[in-house]
Parts: sequence; C-alpha cells; structure tokens
Amino acid sequence: AVDISKLRDLSGVITIDPGYKNSGSCKSEVTFLDGELGILRYRGYSIEDLAEKAHFLEVSYLVIFGELPTTEQLVQFENDIRKHTLVNEEMKNIIDGFPKTAHPMGVLSALTSALTAFNPKSVNVENEKEMYEAVCKTMGKFLVIATWTYRKSMGFPLNYYDNTKGYVENFMRLMFELPTGPYQADPVVVSALDKLFILHADHEQNCSTSTVRMVGSSHAGLFASISAGVSALWGPLHGGANQAVLEMLEEINKDGGDAEKYLSKAKDKNDPFRLMGFGHRVYKNFDPRARIIKKAADEVLATLGVEDPILEIAKKLEVAALEDEYFKSRSLYPNVDFYSGIIYRALGIPTDMFTVMFAIGRLPGWIAQWKEMRENKEPIGRPRQVYVGYPLREFKGVDKR
Ligand code: ACO
Repeated sequence: AVDISKLRDLSGVITIDPGYKNSGSCKSEVTFLDGELGILRYRGYSIEDLAEKAHFLEVSYLVIFGELPTTEQLVQFENDIRKHTLVNEEMKNIIDGFPKTAHPMGVLSALTSALTAFNPKSVNVENEKEMYEAVCKTMGKFLVIATWTYRKSMGFPLNYYDNTKGYVENFMRLMFELPTGPYQADPVVVSALDKLFILHADHEQNCSTSTVRMVGSSHAGLFASISAGVSALWGPLHGGANQAVLEMLEEINKDGGDAEKYLSKAKDKNDPFRLMGFGHRVYKNFDPRARIIKKAADEVLATLGVEDPILEIAKKLEVAALEDEYFKSRSLYPNVDFYSGIIYRALGIPTDMFTVMFAIGRLPGWIAQWKEMRENKEPIGRPRQVYVGYPLREFKGVDKR
C-alpha cells in the first residue's frame, strides 16, 4: 500500500480530469458545439444549412480555410486535389505485405503513416502556398488509399482516380469498379454519401482530433499526425461505433430479433454490453447530426427500395430506447453512428469499411485542427499527473526477491 501523504509534492496544484470531461485543451475557431441545445456549426455555418445546401469539398474548404469558397476557388481546389491523387507505386508493395484479413482501419493508419516516407519534407505552415499544397495532397491521396484498403481485402486490383468525375463519385468508383466494365455510381447514393461526409467533417476536440493535435504539437508532420488520428478513431467508443452498431444489429437478428432483450442487457450493470450508437459525451439532449442523417436514411431507403430485417430491428430498438426510463434519465439518444451504419449498409458499403468512411469525412477536420494548432504556435501537449505509486523502495538483487 502506498502512503500518499508521504509523497513529496513537487508540482503545486494539479487538476485531475480523466477523459477531459471538463477541461479545454485549446481555443479553436473551427467548430461550435452546444451539447445541451444540440447545436453544431462549422466556422459559424449551421450543420443543417451545410448538409442541405453545400457539397463535401465546399465544406472541406470552409472547415480548413475558414471561408466558403467562391466558384473559382472551389473549381481550383477540386483540380488541385486531382493533381495529387496519384500514389507512389511503391506503396503497393506495402499493401501487398498485409494479409487480406487485416482490418481496413489498421491498413489505413499504416498507409497514411507510410506516406511520410514518400513525402518527407515537413510543411511550413507559415507559407500559405506550401500549406495549401499539403492540404490538397492529403485530401487526394487519403481518399485513394482509403479505398485501396477495401480493394486489398477483396483481392481486387487497385483503381485510380478518374479526373472526369467528382470526389465523392470517385470514392464509389475507386471502391467498386471491376476490370469487367465501367462502374456508374447511383446519384442518390453519391448525394447521400456527400451528406454523410459533411456531417462528419469536424466535431471539435473529440478523441481522434485531440490526438491529431497532440501528435502534431511535437511538430510531427501532417501525415504522421493523421495516421495517429485514424488509430484513435478506430476504437468502438469513437468511430468504430458505426461498425459495432451493425454487428450488434446482426447479432440481435441472429438471436431472433428481440430488441427488448438487448435493451435489458444494456441496462444491466452486471453486463458489460452497451447499446452501440447510443449516448454521447457532449450531446445530452440530441445529436443534431443524427436528426439529419435519420431523415437521409429514410429517404435513401425509400428511394433505393431497400428492405432489410436489420433495419427493422434498428427502428424497434430506437423507439424502445427513446421511451425507456434508463435511457431517458441518462440522456442517451441515438448518435450519428447509429444511423450512419444503417445508411452505409443500404448503400452496399461493407461493414468493416464503415469506420474508414468516417475517416474520409473527418479528414478536413483533422487537417483544419492541425493547421490551426501549428498556426497558433501552440506548445507541445504534455499533461501532468498525480503519482500514486510506491515511494522510494530499496532495490533487492534477484536472489533476494
Ligand atoms: N448503453 C447503455 N448504457 C450507457 C450507454 C449505452 N450506449 N452509454 C452510456 N451509458 C450509461 C453508462 O453506463 C452510465 O450509467 P451510470 O450513470 O448508471 O453509471 C451513463 O450512461 C453515463 O455514461 P458514461 O460512459 O459515463 O458517458 P460518457 O460520456 O463517458 O460516454 C459514450 C459516452 C462513450 C459515447 C457512451 O455513451 C458509449 O459508450 N456509447 C456507445 C458507443 C458509441 O455509440 N460511441 C459513439 C460515440 S459518437 C462518435 O464517436 C461519433
């Protein structure tokens, strides 16, 4: 046992706030979020307006550079991203080294990190031109390698960006076009994906974004910092929740489709099971993204005419949880991941690619926050701790232990 009173305090007062529930790590101009009122804005624009009236690259430009682009700027941005969609051929050797069964998020994190080997020059954030080029390079290459993680897992040949098509349409083609013939993405699908990417574009200091800022605060490069963000996003309590939601729904379906049974499991404090896609650290009223996405999900399912028992279970679960006292009293509402998984499934995206989809959407946010952190010349992130281990102990040789 450790006698804490005997520890010499060398540090003055230290605040302990596990999980940073109440600690700010920076000042930021990127995203405004009010968890009580369910408000989310990028650079002052409401998420509702952006999701309805803008496109993903337009929103990416806004999030990263602070202003909505003019038509000229937007066309230029899209062209400049296109210039950077070729990925070094040697990256393919790295992909070939992974087993087909590797999770796409693990491969994506490794490939993003590997980009540093082919782009070793670190960005001078004070040089606007250099920063702009780094943004376009990241947006271009990340999309392509993200789809390559899927191609690898399927054993399909890797596809290249088609300069005659838009960014989101390219995503679908890069994923699904086979050597047997051209692939035509359904406009309903492209439009739904565009909206989903917008809804994920930034979410202030969440786990993966804080990771990107933290890693970048040591002046590690943009690709290295984003690779760390991908790893942070992978966990089931963060971006991995969208995959976990679908796996949970599939399990309920296999088990007879009894949503109530799983609701009871989630409430049982002796059972570690949680209802995936419910609850949020900051939204304690509702997740505004979930509202938009739920509407989009309904539209997409109706337009595509999808009928799926999994979706029926999701609906039952949602209704039951919203009326349940346990969930109501803890302000546990469906979050964005509950519905995004459902839409991805309807669009034909494989389950273990769901978190990769989130990463593609979140990329502009990671870039914007990294850029802001470096431009603000923030100090290296280095939290303190309160030591609660042993005081000085006498060392005993191995024969005396
Ligand atoms: N199912 C059942 N009970 C839950 C759930 C859930 N999904 N979420 C929270 N609770 C309960 C907790 O057991 C706790 O109960 P108690 O007060 O009786 O002990 C209470 O609600 C508060 O939960 P915390 O874990 O303290 O809340 P926190 O803010 O730390 O966690 C989190 C938020 C991680 C999102 C949590 O709600 C969760 O695990 N949800 C499921 C995973 C998920 O959907 N993650 C995606 C988040 S959104 C995103 O990353 C984009």
